[in-house]
Amino acid sequence: RSKFEQLAGELVNPRRNITLFSPCKINIFLRITNKRPDGYHDLASLFHVVSLGDILKFSVSPSTTKDSLTTNARGIPLDDRNLIIKALNLFRKKTGSNTYFWIHLDKKVPTGAGLGGGSGNAATALWAANHLSGNLVGEKELQEWSGEIGSDIPFFFSKGAAYCTGRGEIVEDIPPLSLDIPMVLIKPKEECSTAEVYKHFRLDQASSADPRKLLQEIMSRGISQDLCINDLEPPAFNVLPSLKALKERIAATSRGRYQAVFMSGSGSTIVGVGDSEAPQFIYEEDEYQEVFTSDVFFLRRKENEWYQKVISECS
Ligand code: C5P
Repeated sequence: RSKFEQLAGELVNPRRNITLFSPCKINIFLRITNKRPDGYHDLASLFHVVSLGDILKFSVSPSTTKDSLTTNARGIPLDDRNLIIKALNLFRKKTGSNTYFWIHLDKKVPTGAGLGGGSGNAATALWAANHLSGNLVGEKELQEWSGEIGSDIPFFFSKGAAYCTGRGEIVEDIPPLSLDIPMVLIKPKEECSTAEVYKHFRLDQASSADPRKLLQEIMSRGISQDLCINDLEPPAFNVLPSLKALKERIAATSRGRYQAVFMSGSGSTIVGVGDSEAPQFIYEEDEYQEVFTSDVFFLRRKENEWYQKVISECS
């Protein structure tokens, strides 16, 4: 068939497709409990999904050899270094499926930010591939498989809030926090490489707080500064010294408007929880890549749905 005939066919008989919201996460606390012989670190962290996210559109492709990924964002690899393609390759390997996809990624979540944007996209891709293939497997399997391509991906199969241990892949669902707590995410221009931050981690700089106690306290009395401990802050501040000053300035400028100010994941995003307006100085300088203020709040998943919205579907 000519390209034109193929296109005309598509218009009359559109290919199965689905458009999904792909949220990111923050770590309300992140304790590192051990350096492992396999190069990873054991952690204990409260992960929570937030309402900032990307939009991912998946269509079943006529190709029997490769996926095709496009995006609005710059500097993102579109080949099999991308976690979306890794996720689709994993799905085909595990299920024996021979379905390939066209994917368009509308990126809003910054990269190198400690927000798990790429990990969330990988989870969304696994869910979409399974959905468009007639649900070959259950979500538990997708969740288990996803840990093979990234430590943070299994979390996205939770209901929105989870206590994660191991490399991050052992996911214990907990009741999501109130959806009414506003927050601000501040991402400086500089990115943090997760591997680089972990390389600078030293066990003697870590907190000694019991992570289960931190979890219980947050569940019973809510988020407060003393509970939002991130053991990756010292190594991240080592890698990117300006980040420490940024965190301190946000805390100082906000004059106590936030319940807590802390770094998410391995950085470089600083989170301010409990206020919907960023401190004024942020708009006066150009050192920040992005400041997410309004409409950032905790998110949860409904049963059998991929976060709050299947944006559109055609079958
Ligand atoms: O699992 P993922 O590919 O996201 O991890 C990226 C890098 O971060 C790893 O190669 C490792 O260096 C570091 N890491 C770690 N301990 C973890 C998670 C990640 O040391 N629990």
